[in-house]
Amino acid sequence: MNMPDEKALRQLHDSLNLQPLWIPFTANRQFKAAPRLLVSAKDMYYQTQDGRKLLDGIAGLWAVNAGHCRPKIVEAIQKQAETIDYATGFQMHHPTAFQAAEKVVDLAPEGMDHVFFTNSGSEAVDTALKIALAYHRARGEGTRRILIGRERGYHGVGFGGISVGGMVGNRKTFGNMLGSVDHLRHTHDPERNAFTRGIPAHGAEFADDLERLVALHDASNIAAVIVEPVAGSTGVLLPPKGYLQRLRSICDKYGILLIFDEVITGFGRTGKAFAAHTFGVTPDMITCAKAMTNAAVPMGGVIVKKGIYDTFMDKGGPEAAIEFFHGYTYSGHPLASAAACASLDLFKEEKLFERVAELAPYWEECAHALKGSPHVIDIRTIGLVAGIELQPMTDKPGARAFEAFLRAYQKNVLIRTTGDTIALSPSFIIEKKQIDEIFSVVHDVLKTLP
Ligand SMILES: Cc1ncc(COP(=O)(O)O)c(C=O)c1O
Repeated sequence: MNMPDEKALRQLHDSLNLQPLWIPFTANRQFKAAPRLLVSAKDMYYQTQDGRKLLDGIAGLWAVNAGHCRPKIVEAIQKQAETIDYATGFQMHHPTAFQAAEKVVDLAPEGMDHVFFTNSGSEAVDTALKIALAYHRARGEGTRRILIGRERGYHGVGFGGISVGGMVGNRKTFGNMLGSVDHLRHTHDPERNAFTRGIPAHGAEFADDLERLVALHDASNIAAVIVEPVAGSTGVLLPPKGYLQRLRSICDKYGILLIFDEVITGFGRTGKAFAAHTFGVTPDMITCAKAMTNAAVPMGGVIVKKGIYDTFMDKGGPEAAIEFFHGYTYSGHPLASAAACASLDLFKEEKLFERVAELAPYWEECAHALKGSPHVIDIRTIGLVAGIELQPMTDKPGARAFEAFLRAYQKNVLIRTTGDTIALSPSFIIEKKQIDEIFSVVHDVLKTLP
């Protein structure tokens, strides 16, 4: 680890002005009063500004799937920066973006042959929604404008993403800006499914909610449905058995596109390349980001079925016409593309997705051993993901779990909480003894919580 020593840490502490930066998704006043700064990282660990080694239980943010600062990824980025720092992707391009695209679609489900690059998950979501609208229009079904999301969905923070999303915190200020949107009911059903091991048995019928929305709006007006196969940011919600299959078949019945938002599940998290593989359901589009570059450089993408890409090419007008009027200055940026190539190669070389599948039973066992600990009302796991749901404190939603986060941090383990759920998602290089450490700290912390 390229670790600053004690003196360097002290200098940093004395020189750093925390005020100019407006920190995202953070209680800024509280943070600046007692900052938590990470100054270096290697494999499974961060170094904190106060010189502690912190076990990373969340792979950065569901993203650093191969562990931190892996030399092959670092070197690929360095080399690319010296070779070509930037090339416009508009009417020009550079080779590494094509190489990265090939590696991404190689991992995707059969028939999903093309990828459009973005810089984040939010941009991937908004891009996918635009592709859906433009696709139907190109096919002469331009009335299909309604986009359907799901309650408790999280699809990033663009206007499209928050509109189809179902997280109240995101929606309350801006969520009604996109007009033609509706939502399926969420699938969380703790009364029937609490403490299930693996996929919940009950709730496939929640997919029939799409029939209700078709009856309300008429299929001729509906463009797409977007769901996370496993919802992360609203508390690690697993799809009930048969739910995604049923959603797929209702979409097929009415010509509605199905989009899986795999920003957190993409690139191995559930034990296969995509959750689409794990659940055996192929959507029409997959949005992804985060682990595509092992989070070393921002990058996202929308992977689409061949038929969607072909429609744009076939109906795109004269050969000189731009078929999809959309893109970002940094789409397929050389550094991101180089990081993606190196990361996807590393996942393969080290068989990291297989490692997730191998570790998953042990992980599940350790998570479920927390049953009976104070405040725990449900435990959900898949691959290397765990959601440990706590009973909220009266009138203080989220406060108990946030306190768990702070106490775990003091005990040198980084966890994440969303609402009153502790959400764990470590890098795939994690060792069993590190799994033990994470759950043992969570266990100790639970015993001390208010
Ligand atoms: C399912 C899902 N979609 C979209 C996003 C947004 O991605 P980003 O933060 O890269 O914009 C996230 C982020 O966590 C996510 O979990």
